[in-house]
Amino acid sequence: MKIFSGNSVSTTFNLISSLLLITLFLALALSSYRREQELIIKGAVDNARAISRQIIETRDYLSRNVTKEPEQNPNLIPQVAATSIAKQLTGGSNFYVRQVSLRYRNPDNRPDSYEREILNKFKGPGQKEVWQVSKEGGKKSLRYLLPMIADQSCLACHGSYETAPGFIQERFPKDHFSYGYQVGEIIGAVSVAVPMESLYSQIRHNLKRDVIYDGIVMTIFIIITGWILHRTIITPVKKVAASISEVALTGNFSQRIELKRNDEIGELIHSYNILMSELDHKTQQRMESEERYRNFIEIAQSPIVTFMSDGKILISNQKAEKLFGLTKEELLGQCLFEFMVNGDDLKNAINDYFTAGTSDLIGTTTRQKIRDVCGRLFDVDMVISVSQSDQNQMFSAILRSVKE
Ligand code: HEC
Repeated sequence: MKIFSGNSVSTTFNLISSLLLITLFLALALSSYRREQELIIKGAVDNARAISRQIIETRDYLSRNVTKEPEQNPNLIPQVAATSIAKQLTGGSNFYVRQVSLRYRNPDNRPDSYEREILNKFKGPGQKEVWQVSKEGGKKSLRYLLPMIADQSCLACHGSYETAPGFIQERFPKDHFSYGYQVGEIIGAVSVAVPMESLYSQIRHNLKRDVIYDGIVMTIFIIITGWILHRTIITPVKKVAASISEVALTGNFSQRIELKRNDEIGELIHSYNILMSELDHKTQQRMESEERYRNFIEIAQSPIVTFMSDGKILISNQKAEKLFGLTKEELLGQCLFEFMVNGDDLKNAINDYFTAGTSDLIGTTTRQKIRDVCGRLFDVDMVISVSQSDQNQMFSAILRSVKE
């Protein structure tokens, strides 16, 4: 997830949703392409089967019922009649129909390499229709073969030479390979070929169209969801973030975010507003108590400074300012230890107080030497007391000048 960590939420969201949608749409498009392809092949196979069956039925019928006539009229030979019927059936379509045999009488019925392969397979047991989509000359086409099985009537002309009618004997000599079939033997096959290229290009075209439509829908979807996400989540969260940084910068807790919503974002903003008013209230209280403290030490008779554990002076009264020879503005922020000749002792005492919890310099009156801004030295009696502010331990030093 490292790649997403540098991006904004909306970019990450758009990226993830785009990836998901693209995968989904590609999977859908691919599966619909496959389905269409299957349907097209199934349709072509159904047609090829129907034509082949008609041809076989026709020739079986002729073979059984038109037995004498072929001698006078060769057009009534089952093969010849079925071929011309097949031509008429498929006229105008792109179907190509042949009746082929390994032991052909007419060289026109010689099988091509695919037909030869299948006819050889048909010699084995369990002969059924066979089909496949193959690529020939760079173009895809469906090849379909339905075997023709010899029955008793076929053997009149395809059985032995001796029993064949005279006109057959005349055309095909005794040792011709087209004789010698048994009942139940495969004599040949109806072979149908259907060019698939135009059908395939049609579904490829459909696929392209689907992908374009889906792509448009997907883009609109991503734009709309991105916009909604931006409006409902990103903008309010950004507002909260901006407001928090401003508070951190200015320390002003009076800001509130005006946004009424009943969802989680509404809750977040509500909590933010509560937090801000709580902090606002606390600051107000602290300022008031500081103010009271300031007023209180101002009327005291002795110099008083309040300082942090590092010696930084936070509050001072007029008497203290006079003692050190500085104005309030100059004194605040200075380090108390710097004004003391033995400042390090106090520093250590405060450290002791933090580590051990007590210190001999705290809570008791000690004599200290103070150096004012001009370098003059004074003796003072000093009492350090500890007080707890919101976050920090603070110390107050009450000094009393010792006049000798
Ligand atoms: C009246 C005789 C006769 C009968 C009955 C007959 N055939 Fe034929 N058959 C022929 C002749 C003749 C040809 C060659 C036709 C041509 O010149 O195209 C042929 C051709 C074929 C062919 C094409 C391959 C080739 O040899 O050129 C097949 C397959 C075939 N017959 C199967 C059958 C089947 C199956 C039956 C029975 C349902 C059958 N025939 C009945 C005379 C017959």
